[in-house]
Amino acid sequence: MTLLAIESSCDDTAAAVCTDGELRSNVVSSQKEHAQWGGVIPELASRRHLTNIVPVVEQALANAGCTFGDIEAVACTSGPGLIGSLLVGHTFARSLALAHNLPFIEVDHMEGHISSLFVDERRPTFPFLCLTVSGGHTQIARVTDPLKSEVLGRTLDDAAGEAFDKAAKLLGFDYPGGPLLDKTSLGGDIHFLPLPEPRVEGLDFSFSGLKTALLYSLRKKQAEDPQFIQSHLADICASVQHRIVTALLDKLFQAARETGIREMGIVGGVSANSYLRAQFMARCEAEQCMGYIPAFAYCTDNAAMIAIAAYHKWQAGQTSAVSAVPYASR
Ligand code: KG4
Ligand code: ZN
Repeated sequence: MTLLAIESSCDDTAAAVCTDGELRSNVVSSQKEHAQWGGVIPELASRRHLTNIVPVVEQALANAGCTFGDIEAVACTSGPGLIGSLLVGHTFARSLALAHNLPFIEVDHMEGHISSLFVDERRPTFPFLCLTVSGGHTQIARVTDPLKSEVLGRTLDDAAGEAFDKAAKLLGFDYPGGPLLDKTSLGGDIHFLPLPEPRVEGLDFSFSGLKTALLYSLRKKQAEDPQFIQSHLADICASVQHRIVTALLDKLFQAARETGIREMGIVGGVSANSYLRAQFMARCEAEQCMGYIPAFAYCTDNAAMIAIAAYHKWQAGQTSAVSAVPYASR
C-alpha cells in the first residue's frame, strides 16, 4: 500500500511517500524567513505553504520513483498547530483524496512525532516511554501500541524548545536559537552559570522560571562586565543546555522507575540536540534501559513520521471523512 503524506503544521512544508510502512522519500522545505522576525509569523507561514506545497509534493513523488497514479491513500497532519498552516496541507490532501476517490487519513502531530521512532529499522518494543520535546510541546507518554498512548506528564508552561529559543534570544541568537545554542555550547563548562532546578510535582515540567533566572543572572553579570556574554558564550550555552536537558531526563527516568518500563525514546525537534542525545544514551546504559532516538531528519517536523503513523492507522481501518477539518489545539 503506497501512501502520500503531507505535514504543514508550523513553518515546514513536508511530503513523504511510503509503501507498506517503509519510507521511500522524505522532502522538507523549511521557511528561513521567520528568523528576521524572531519567531514564526503565522500569516507568512501559511502563504509560504501555499507556494511550497506543489513543488514539495512533486519532489517527494519523484524521489520515490512514482507518479500520482501509484498513490493509494493520502494522509496529512490534522493538528495541533497553526490553523492557517494546517489548512494548506489538510485542504490539499483531502482535495487530492476526494478528486481521486482515495482513502483520506488524518494524523495528530504528536502521534506523528512518536511514530518517528518507527521510520528506521531499529525500533522500540511495546510498551515504551516516549519523551516528546518540540517547540510547542513537552510530554512523557506511555505508548502501548502504534496508535495508543497515555500522557503521564507534560509542561505546565513553556515547551523545552521554547526554553532553548528564549534563552538563545537573550544571548543574541536568531530564531530558532536552539540549534545555534547547541553548536555554541561545544567545549563549554556546564557548571559555569548556576541556574535553578525546576521544582514540579510528579512527571510534569516547568521551564518558564529558567528564562527569568537567566535574564536576571545575565543583567547582574553584565553590570559588572559589559562583555560578559561575549566573553563566556560557550560556557553560558553549556550551562543553559545542561539545565534543560537534566530537567527532561530526570523526569523521564523517574517515569521509568515508577512504571517499570525499560524501553524509551526521545522525539521532536529538541531530540536533535547533541547534549540531550549523548546524555540520554549514557543514562540508558547506566540504568539498563534501551534507548531510541530518530535520525536527525525525523526529529524536527517532517512528513516521514506522518506517513508511518498513517500506515498504522490505515492498517487499523482508521480513515477520515473528506469533510473533516483541522484543529489548532486539542
Ligand atoms: O518538532 P519541531 O521541528 O517543531 C515543533 O513541532 O515545534 O521543533 C522545533 C524546536 C525549536 O524550538 C528548535 O529550537 C528546537 O526544536 N531544536 C533544538 C535543536 N534543533 C531543533 N533545540 C536544541 N538543540 C537542537 N539541536
Ligand atoms: Zn513538531
